[in-house]
Amino acid sequence: ASITDPVTIDELEKYASNHLDKNAFDYYSTGAENDVTLRENRLAFNRIKLRPRMLRDVSHQDISVTVLGHKLNMPICVSPSAFQAMAHPDGELATVKAVSSLGTAMVLSLYSTTSLEDVALEAPNTIKFFQMQLYTDRQLMVTIIKRAEKARYKAILLTVDCPLYGRHQGRRRFELPGHLKYANFSSVQQSKQFKSNAELGAHIIALLDCSVDWTILDWLRSITSLPVVVKGILTPEDAQLAVQHGANGILVSNHGGRQLDGVPAAIEVLPEIVNAVRGTGVEVYMDSGVRLGTDVLKALALGARAVFVGRPAIWGLAYKGEQGVKAVLQTLRDEFKTAMVLAGCASLKDITSSLVMRPATSHL
Ligand code: FNR
Repeated sequence: ASITDPVTIDELEKYASNHLDKNAFDYYSTGAENDVTLRENRLAFNRIKLRPRMLRDVSHQDISVTVLGHKLNMPICVSPSAFQAMAHPDGELATVKAVSSLGTAMVLSLYSTTSLEDVALEAPNTIKFFQMQLYTDRQLMVTIIKRAEKARYKAILLTVDCPLYGRHQGRRRFELPGHLKYANFSSVQQSKQFKSNAELGAHIIALLDCSVDWTILDWLRSITSLPVVVKGILTPEDAQLAVQHGANGILVSNHGGRQLDGVPAAIEVLPEIVNAVRGTGVEVYMDSGVRLGTDVLKALALGARAVFVGRPAIWGLAYKGEQGVKAVLQTLRDEFKTAMVLAGCASLKDITSSLVMRPATSHL
C-alpha cells in the first residue's frame, strides 16, 4: 500500500466521489431534502464521549458475537443497499465474498443487481439475510420470500420506513442504467415486458403498499418460518409494537438519512429503544452513520448487539470491488479492536453504558 491509498472510510468516500460517475455518486451519497438527518447521523456520534478505564487486562480481545443465533467474527455487518453493480461491476457478489472472508453477515437488498440465488451460490455458507419491502401484490412478496428461504437466507429483514421514497434534493430522479438489472424481479419483468428499467422501476415503486398496519407483521410471520427483523424503527412505541407482533430483531435506523428528514440520529434513540424491549429476548441492532471503530464501541455501549453499515460498503466497492469491501470491514474491525483496548474492554460484555457520556435527550 502506498501512503496515498485511501484507508479510512472518509478517505474511501472521497475516492468514490472522484471516481464514480456523478449520477451514481449522488444516488449513493445523498440523504433526503436538506440532509439534516444525514449530517446528524455523524454529529450525534461525535457528541457522545467515551469514559475509558485503565489497567484492565486487555491482552486478548474477543469480538465475536451471535446474531439471531449465528456466530459472527465481529459485531459489524453490512446493511442492504440497492444497485451495487453501479459502484463496481461485481456488485453484490464482491460484497458477499468480502463479508464471507471476514466471517460476518450481510443483508441483501431486494433491489440487488445480482439475483438472490446467484449471491447465495457465491457464498453458500455465509450468513445472509434478505431485505423485503411491502407490496400491494402480496403474492409477489410470498414468491420472493420463498425464493429467499430456498436459497438459505437466514432471516427476512422487513423495511418499514419506506411507504414511499424520501425526496432527494439536488439529485435527479434516479434511473438504473440500462445495462444493469432489477435482478430479483425477473418474473415481473417477464410478465409485463417492460421496455426499460425506468418503466420497470416505476412499476415496482407503484407497488409499494402504504395502507398496511402492524398486522402485516402477523401475516409475514404466517407465510414464513424465517426470523423477522424490522428495519427502520425510531421510537420505543414502535419497538414495543414490533415485539408484540412477533419480531425477532429490531434494526434501529433512519435509512442513512434518506427517508424522513429531520428525524434524530439512530444512535440517539437507540438507548430508549433498547430499554423498551429489555427482557423480551428481541435483539436490537443499529445502522446510520457508523464510520469509525469508536462509533461501533459507542453503539454497543448504548445497547446495540451489532451495527450495520450501508454506504461504507459501497465506497469499498467503488475503490476495489471485493478487496475494497474487505478493506472497509477490516478497517472498522481493527479500529474497533484498538478502541476496545484503549477503553479497557477485553470482550463485548465489558462494553457497558458506563463507557459513554451523552448529552441529555428528550422527545418532549
Ligand atoms: C440504502 N438503504 C436501503 N435500505 C433498504 O432497506 N433497502 C434498500 O434497498 C436500500 N437501499 C439503499 C441504497 C443506498 C445507496 C443507501 C445509501 C442506503 C438503507 C441502508 O440499508 C442503511 O439503512 C443505511 O445505508 C445506513 O446508513 P449509512 O451506513 O449509509 O450511514
